[in-house]
Amino acid sequence: MKVLIINGPNLNMIGIREPSIYGNNTYDDLVSYCKDAANELGIEVDIFQSNHEGAIIDKIQEAYKKVDGIVINAGAYTHYSIAIMDALKSVDIPTVEVHLSDVYKREEFRHVSYIKLVSIQTIVGLGFEGYKKAMETLKRLYI
Ligand code: DQA
Repeated sequence: MKVLIINGPNLNMIGIREPSIYGNNTYDDLVSYCKDAANELGIEVDIFQSNHEGAIIDKIQEAYKKVDGIVINAGAYTHYSIAIMDALKSVDIPTVEVHLSDVYKREEFRHVSYIKLVSIQTIVGLGFEGYKKAMETLKRLYI
């Protein structure tokens, strides 16, 4: 099965940005972690990061009929991008939302998620492990 992992704005800055929230591991470490986890689960994975809303939407649209599941950490777009939500609705691919931090223990504006409305599961506060759990959830749909 094929899974597309999408990371939104500023996720390329982990390891540098707010280490007390996001830790010291870098984006490259996250990519390696996800590749290893996908390998272990027998999943073919494409890992994409962009700081641009339109590029994320283009990537979701390209996945139409090509991908079996999407794991998305839309970063701050989570909290206000109706356009990303609509793109996910359009392609109708099972989606799991992931956040490194526990957004529910942070500012109130982070409690709102447009991605959650189109996701089969939301995983927060587990760091990198959240991505593996998301892939496990998607894999279970096809067993
Ligand atoms: C985040 C949480 C968002 O609120 C924030 O804007 C991010 C990262 C997370 O992974 O915890 O950029 O999605």
